[in-house]
Amino acid sequence: MMTIRQRLLLLLLPALAILMLLGGLADYWIAVATTRNAYDQALASAALAAAASMRSDDGKLQVSAAQRAALTRGPDAEGSTLYSITGPAGELIAGAAQLPAAAASGSARSDSVTFRDADFQGLKLRVASLRSRSDAGPLTITVAETLQRRASTQRVMLLGKLLVDFAELDVTLLLIWIGVSFGLRPLARLREQVEEQSASTLQRFNVAEAPGELRPLILALNHLLELRHDAALSQRRFVADAAHQMRTPVTGLLAQLELLLQAPAAVAVKSELTTINRGVQQLAHTANQLLALARAEPVSAVGEGFKAVALRPLVEHLVERNIDRAVTAGLDLGADAQTAQVIGDAWLLEDLLGNLVDNALKYTPAGGRVTVRCGTEQAHPFLEVEDDGPGIAESERLRVRERFYRLPGSPGTGCGLGLAIVDEISRAHRAVFSIGVPAIGGGTRMRIRFPPAT
Ligand SMILES: Nc1ncnc2c1ncn2[C@@H]1O[C@H](COP(=O)(O)OP(=O)(O)OP(=O)(O)O)[C@@H](O)[C@H]1O
Ligand SMILES: [Mg+2]
Repeated sequence: MMTIRQRLLLLLLPALAILMLLGGLADYWIAVATTRNAYDQALASAALAAAASMRSDDGKLQVSAAQRAALTRGPDAEGSTLYSITGPAGELIAGAAQLPAAAASGSARSDSVTFRDADFQGLKLRVASLRSRSDAGPLTITVAETLQRRASTQRVMLLGKLLVDFAELDVTLLLIWIGVSFGLRPLARLREQVEEQSASTLQRFNVAEAPGELRPLILALNHLLELRHDAALSQRRFVADAAHQMRTPVTGLLAQLELLLQAPAAVAVKSELTTINRGVQQLAHTANQLLALARAEPVSAVGEGFKAVALRPLVEHLVERNIDRAVTAGLDLGADAQTAQVIGDAWLLEDLLGNLVDNALKYTPAGGRVTVRCGTEQAHPFLEVEDDGPGIAESERLRVRERFYRLPGSPGTGCGLGLAIVDEISRAHRAVFSIGVPAIGGGTRMRIRFPPAT
């Protein structure tokens, strides 16, 4: 796909090439016409000067010696001039005998200079002829010069003009390039803004600062975002409503199952009831996770309604809440909480940490150790859950964040939404969620790095 600059060049270059060609032709014509006029003028002046310097000595017409010297230079030298003066009967009075006259005798007006090109002794000449009168009758004064000087002056003029034209063309192209780049800057800015958008946080583009040409595009994009926003909102509402609708009957079911399990019954029935109970618990868990995910997706601007949240009490609360479960699972659950604070949503952050702790407790075999940390590192507040369990292969660390994805053979019941929720909540807080390995030995280290607290 061609860029706008390339398209413009493709369009401009042939047009500029034609312009250059026409300009070159015009330059050539101007150089030829200007030099011919100037040099013809000089020739005419020489003829007139010769006529003025004619003297009649002893009834014989003569050109003054100084004028003769000025007019006669060898025909081989560059810029050489030749002359001839012929009398009424065509007899040579002075100068080169064979010099061709510019006009046939009688055809030219008297006292006016006529010009022509002629060949003389193998040389190309420009000839100026003047018909003049003297006491002895009409005279023809012919002055000629070779064309070298004219040609070299034309060459210099033409070359100079062409060089100027080329320089102008280069500067024009450069200015066009700079102008187009400058003009395209708002587009580049818009592209950056589009790239910065994340699927869950769609923000309108600023129309006020955009140049007029881009406004319709930005308005159309904003309209599209509006539609996308509405669709996201209704999808989120649907998921939340469905999960909520599910939760009420499922909670009722669980309570009834609890009662049934306590009542005396045949072993087979008890076993069936236990299986049903497990299934319903799984259903309740999925409904809860779906609700948490719907809550996590920000539909309005990121950070709206966020407040300062202290991480340390959050960590301590989560550890306390899970301590019994850890003891039952034979795990050593501990906290390493430093004072740290982020700008965020306390409920969402609790969902996030709850899921990380739940995973660590669920996937670490008995005898293992789970540590929940918070603090500030290089001005970035962080939350971290570390375990010495089986770990997650590097190739799977992106996929496990996908919705409903569980590693094949994962123990326990789960619906594969926990890390998707963590990912979503991290993004809502402009935090970076990374999955790694603890510094000492194997296991999993889940870390949320928040932007520096301001
Ligand atoms: N601490 C961990 N150690 C080892 N594997 C883990 C750990 N945390 C997550 N995983 C793997 O990543 C997968 C995805 O985790 P996620 O929390 O998204 O889903 P889940 O735990 O299976 O279900 P849910 O959290 O919705 O109940 C899990 O199935 C598990 O295989
Ligand atoms: Mg989980």
